[in-house]
Amino acid sequence: MSFGLSERVKNIAPSPTLSIDTKTKAMMAEGIDVINLSVGEPDFGTPEIATEAGKAAIDAQFTKYTAVPGIVELRNKIAAKLNEWHGLDYTADDILVSSGAKHSLYNAFMALCNPGDEVILPAPYWVSYPEMIALAEATPVVIATDESTGFKITPEQLQQAITPKTKVLLLNSPSNPTGAVYTKEELAALAEVITGHEFYVISDEIYDQLVYDVEQVSIATFPGMKERTILINGFSKAYSMTGWRVGYLAGDRAAVKAMTSFQSHTTANPASISQKAALAALDHIDEAMVPEFRWRRDYVLERLAAMPHVSCDTPDGAFYVFPNCAATFGKSYQGHRIEKSDDFAALLLEYAKISLVPGTGFGAPNNFRISYATSRDNLAKAMDRLEAFLKELV
Ligand SMILES: Cc1ncc(COP(=O)(O)O)c(C=O)c1O
Repeated sequence: MSFGLSERVKNIAPSPTLSIDTKTKAMMAEGIDVINLSVGEPDFGTPEIATEAGKAAIDAQFTKYTAVPGIVELRNKIAAKLNEWHGLDYTADDILVSSGAKHSLYNAFMALCNPGDEVILPAPYWVSYPEMIALAEATPVVIATDESTGFKITPEQLQQAITPKTKVLLLNSPSNPTGAVYTKEELAALAEVITGHEFYVISDEIYDQLVYDVEQVSIATFPGMKERTILINGFSKAYSMTGWRVGYLAGDRAAVKAMTSFQSHTTANPASISQKAALAALDHIDEAMVPEFRWRRDYVLERLAAMPHVSCDTPDGAFYVFPNCAATFGKSYQGHRIEKSDDFAALLLEYAKISLVPGTGFGAPNNFRISYATSRDNLAKAMDRLEAFLKELV
């Protein structure tokens, strides 16, 4: 029975990354030997200090509502960390803790955008941004990028995309799906353009700790930028706490206050137990994570470089590589023709039993995303299978 759903939800596309993950897990449950390179979560455990703090919170009955923006100890600690990492001077009142960075992003879009406002969105983009922009009834203005600029927008492209309706520029460095990291000089040049106009920047820095031999710089650190930046971060990636659902934003106090009011009527505080675990986690990044991810990135890149029909830039951050597979378009595997990256990914899943995400949902139809947040053994097997598949294309 249906009495009609809202236009709002009718137009939402399900997350393609989560759908592929669900399909992959269903195949695995049937006993099929699929290698999952589609997931966006680290294969490391949550730090023990955080799990212990979570258990202690339960035992101490720290299980009630907390302040809507999160407990003050956690917000103070986040402010101190943003100061340590970036020299940014926030206080607890400038911070809103939410149920995951996804939730923080949603709060930000809903609080900043009016119907018809434009959000400048560099592509390739993380799959949830366009949907959130649509939910806020704003209009995405996509700036396409490719390998020629390392998947980064230039100041000229930004300047051209700005109109009187521009309300937000979305930046995501390190990027999901490309792993691209903007340098200090590149951000300075973008900041110069931005400060000549009146709009906000939502800067999603959730992969900030996962950079390989480069520095992660926040756009908020440039002159005139802190007050117009909503900095987004969270605990899912660097602390392997995806299921705990804790993210946060930091920004202009009046905007944060409005976002807190919005959150007060939607979800209220993030889980009390998770907040205690997050507080304990903040000083304890697993030292083994970055070297291990760097090793895996290098391994995957080396293997890809020796394969036909694909090419891949070297990403400086996150745990993804984003190879180009346009050279496979028009070729066939066992009689099945590849027209686009969706076909490529579908054939790989069915015949090579590798699950990865086609670039279409990221606004990059020539590419596909490999997550290397899986074991070295899995990566070796997956690269063997991919290579064999590519060699069979005619
Ligand atoms: C770029 C980006 N932003 C935000 C998130 C959301 O993270 P969380 O688990 O904190 O909601 C993700 C997760 O995949 C992501 O890749």
